Amino acid sequence: MNLDELEKLARVVRLRTLRDLLGVAIVTVAAFGLASALELNERINHWTESLELFQADELRTTLLVLAAALGWFSWRRWTELRRELAMRVELEADLARSLEDNRDLTRRSLEVQERERKDVAHELHDELGQYLNAIEIEAVGLRSRLESGSMAAESVERMRGLARHVYEVARTLMYRLRPVGLDEFGLEEALQHLVDGWQQQRPEVRYTLAIDAELPELGEALNIAVFRLVQESLTNIARHSGARNAAVRLSRLNGEGLRLTVEDDGCGLPTSLRPGLGLTGMRERAELLGGHLHTGVPEGGSGTLLDFRLPANPQGDNA
Ligand SMILES: Nc1ncnc2c1ncn2[C@@H]1O[C@H](COP(=O)(O)OP(=O)(O)O)[C@@H](O)[C@H]1O
Ligand SMILES: [Mg+2]
Repeated sequence: MNLDELEKLARVVRLRTLRDLLGVAIVTVAAFGLASALELNERINHWTESLELFQADELRTTLLVLAAALGWFSWRRWTELRRELAMRVELEADLARSLEDNRDLTRRSLEVQERERKDVAHELHDELGQYLNAIEIEAVGLRSRLESGSMAAESVERMRGLARHVYEVARTLMYRLRPVGLDEFGLEEALQHLVDGWQQQRPEVRYTLAIDAELPELGEALNIAVFRLVQESLTNIARHSGARNAAVRLSRLNGEGLRLTVEDDGCGLPTSLRPGLGLTGMRERAELLGGHLHTGVPEGGSGTLLDFRLPANPQGDNA
């Protein structure tokens, strides 16, 4: 039960109590009227006199005390209930605040993470990349001055190969840290590069990417979020699905929204799914932007469908 529902319940309980009290007052007044009209007390007196033996005439006083005790009892329960409801409303408000704080924290940590990744990628590119290139060029120059086929020339050639290898490793790392082309050429290019990369790695799978031509300007936060969602979805497809086909679609949703679907024709999500960091992280990312993730089965009837709905003007700015 959320805070709004709880406050509504508290209002309903208050109203019902007032209504019930009014009912009690009306019944009491009506009973008084009827008793006066029928001279009820005299009749009861007359009736209980004959049962004096069983102390039936004391019944009235006893009932009066019982009524007063029940009144006291109801009052106690009523005040307890109010206190409990107020406490629950307060607890729910605390919980809602904590959740909001938590969301804020996650948003900020994603922001910091992306900023740092970007810085490290640039550093790798500008420093490490340049130096490795310089080593390679030096090695090529040195080799050309050495007698070809000599041990020294072979050793220099191996050095050149190692420098190239380290550069490739650094490049992959850079790419993982900050998607190629996202800043310079935009989301479309970066997604195409990502899909092409998977296609090269897994030629047995058919990857397709379809992007709506009429996409609104998404901004950095949404660009990076969409990229990370596709990145994780494609990793999951490769790791878990065994699919032959994988399709990524990015389109405009009615109004201002954005729809991203990633589907495959693999084994599908397990029925007793234990979501790891990937699915949870994707859901969180979507919700932080004010959107949501729906998981299901594609129209073909088998495989996995991840359906993200995102607002085009996200709530946070996580890049
Ligand atoms: N495309 C997919 N096809 C089949 N199963 C999947 C797919 N994506 C995710 N899963 C299942 O969902 C689980 C959770 O995925 P995820 O949260 O990304 O964690 P992880 O990839 O670290 O296992 C996976 O272990 C896998 O069983
Ligand atoms: Mg995963």
